[in-house]
Parts: sequence; structure tokens; C-alpha cells
Amino acid sequence: MTAQFILLSLLYLWDVSMSQVCNPELLENEEFFGRELKSVFSPDVNHCQQLCTQHPSCSFFTFIQPDSMNVDRHFHCYLKSGSRTQSTLTGVTSGFSLKNCHLDPQPCLSRVYHGVDFFGGDYKTLFTSDYEGCQRVCTNDPHCQFFTFFNGSFESVNYRYKCHLKFSWTVPRSPWIKTVADLVSGFSLKIINLQPDTKCQMKFFKNSEILGNHTENLLAASPDHCQALCTAHPLCTYFVYTSDDFMCYLKNNPDEIVLKARDGFTSGIPGRTCQPDNNWTKTTITGVDFWGSDLSNLMADGAEACQRACTEDPLCQFFTYVTDRFAWRTIRRMCYLKRIITLPAPKKVSKLANAVSGFSLRKCVSGTAFTPTELDETLSESEVVLL
Ligand SMILES: *[C@@H]1O[C@H](CO)[C@@H](O)[C@H](O)[C@H]1NC(C)=O
Repeated sequence: MTAQFILLSLLYLWDVSMSQVCNPELLENEEFFGRELKSVFSPDVNHCQQLCTQHPSCSFFTFIQPDSMNVDRHFHCYLKSGSRTQSTLTGVTSGFSLKNCHLDPQPCLSRVYHGVDFFGGDYKTLFTSDYEGCQRVCTNDPHCQFFTFFNGSFESVNYRYKCHLKFSWTVPRSPWIKTVADLVSGFSLKIINLQPDTKCQMKFFKNSEILGNHTENLLAASPDHCQALCTAHPLCTYFVYTSDDFMCYLKNNPDEIVLKARDGFTSGIPGRTCQPDNNWTKTTITGVDFWGSDLSNLMADGAEACQRACTEDPLCQFFTYVTDRFAWRTIRRMCYLKRIITLPAPKKVSKLANAVSGFSLRKCVSGTAFTPTELDETLSESEVVLL
């Protein structure tokens, strides 16, 4: 019993010290066991490793290769933490979070996957003569995160050469927002690399609701944050934000906009023609907790210092600061740095004959910032073949 306890303690200590170093090593045919945080889909082990790196508390992972005997678990990426044990299993690859490796937080995902379908997230389809054309259209469209293309041998004849443009959320947002006195929350000042602000008037309708069903609802810290989410989503034509429960409703109706006076509601239209300013990241919100998603914590002298700490940490996207008036003394002045996964990631990955999938190459333009006009020129009309 005692020996077992000592062994567990040693394993724990080893695990803690391991988490401080950068270990990019991948272990083929090894399965890691620990506390499972999340099971997600991923097209390859490197993407899975990036998912682990971006998950706030993931320290290691196991990826089930598409050639594994375990057919039901192909492309599964298991994010784990805690004390780690391992054993041999053919067709799986394991590795560690790269949190301590100081990598680009928005990595270039340049691999294409033949015979693979990225399921879900569709917002637009068109026809292109090859997958390279489909990938160029995706790269050229700021809403597109990844694509799936059906080539000329695809089984359903009518869907051959079809290019599916797909979306997943890359705007940071807290999965839990609660009203809590004496807490202050906010965002890193560097969370998204938008192009330099083109000054434009953002349209808000105060104390108004835009009628109609929503296509998606999610939490947002402010009307400005909700607007940034609407702008990021290709199918959002306008939004409604309710400040008492922090709910952001994205709506899709390109035909009409029906406004109705309603207290506590803010509605608006997205900033499509110009980059939205990032003011929503600058203002801190008093009396609000961005609960969970903790990456690390430190003591800080005020909410501004906490925001600075978040901005300086390349992994931090948002934070919650505990003021010295907070009821629970022991955590006063504590600054909690937080993040969620914002890596482009399909809802599901599976095998599909004669399908080719891949990611937008926007993050792959090294050096100078990407400008849409540059890429417009590489996309010639002749590449779009209508059948
Ligand atoms: C479609 O993809 C498959 C697998 O990648 C390939 O063998 C086949 O030649 C492709 N067909 C066409 C028409 O490009």
C-alpha cells in the first residue's frame, strides 16, 4: 500500500516536471492513459497534437491512426491530463502538448488528405476542376477554415468536382459566462490577427430585437463580441444580443430585417465590408466570470495587470481577475489565464473514397500579412468548372 502510494507520488511528480519542458516526440504504437478530458476528431497526429496544445489543460494525447485495426475509433484524438501510464497498441500514436514549445498559436495546416471526408460545417458549395482549385477558393475566402472536394472518380456522379467550403469557430469565446460580484473578465489584446482596422461604422440597434429564428446561439461577453462572432460566421446576416444572460443569437435571413423595440436587447448587422475594430477585446467587464478553461494563474495588481499578463502569454485568450473585495480571501488578486481550442477542426473525420480534404492556407503565407487581393489574382475564373 505504502509502496503503491510512493510510486503514484513519483509518477505525479514526474508528470508535473514533464509538463514544464518542450517534448515534441511522437511515440508510435504506444497508447497513453490518464484522465480523459475530451475526445475529438482529427485528420492526423500533428493536428491532434495542436488540439492538445490549444486545450487549456491537455498535457498528452493519443491519436488513432486510420490504419488501426480499431475501425470505430479511426481519426479519434483523445486529449488527456493527469498522471500518465502507457502500453503498446498497434495503429495509435501518442505525444505531448507543445504548450512549452513557444510555437505559432495559429499554425499553418498545409497537408491535404486523400480519401478523407471532413464532415460538417458546410456553408457554401461550388464546382472546381481539382482539389487544388477548391483549396485556393477556401484560402481566398476569409470564412473558410477547411474544405472537402469530390474528385472525378467519386461514386455519386452528380457530386463529382463538388467543392464544399466549411467553417469552424476561430474567434475566442468563453464557454461559460456568469455574473459574479468583484470579478473582472476580459480578453488578450492579441487574440486575433486581423488586418489593420479599416475605419467603419458598426451598426447597432439599442433596445431592439430583430425578429426571426436563430441558426446558432452562443455566449458572448458584450454586443461587440457578439458582432465579431456574427462577422466571423459566413451564414450570419444579423444578430441579437441579450445582456442579462450574455446570449448571442446569430440569424440568417438575407431577405428582410424586422426590428421591434425591446428593452435589454441589442441587435446589429455584421461588419462585412470592413474589418470590425477589436474594441471588444480592449474593454474589461466588471462583475463577470469567464468560468473554467483555466490555463494557469498568477497574482496580479489589478485587472489591467492581469490583462497584460494574458496578452504577453501567447496561449492566453481571455482572463478573469479576482479583486481584493472578493468574498473568498484566499484567491483575492488572483489572475486566471484562460483559453479554448480555436484551431480549425472538423466536427467529424472519416474515410471516403475519392474525396480530398484539407485546410485553408491563409495561415501559411509567411512574413507579410495575408491580403485578400494578392490571392484573388491566383484564382482565375477558368478554375471554376460548372458541370
Ligand atoms: C480521385 O482520387 C483517387 C484517390 O486519391 C485517385 O486514385 C483517382 O485517380 C482520382 N480521380 C481523378 C479523376 O482525379
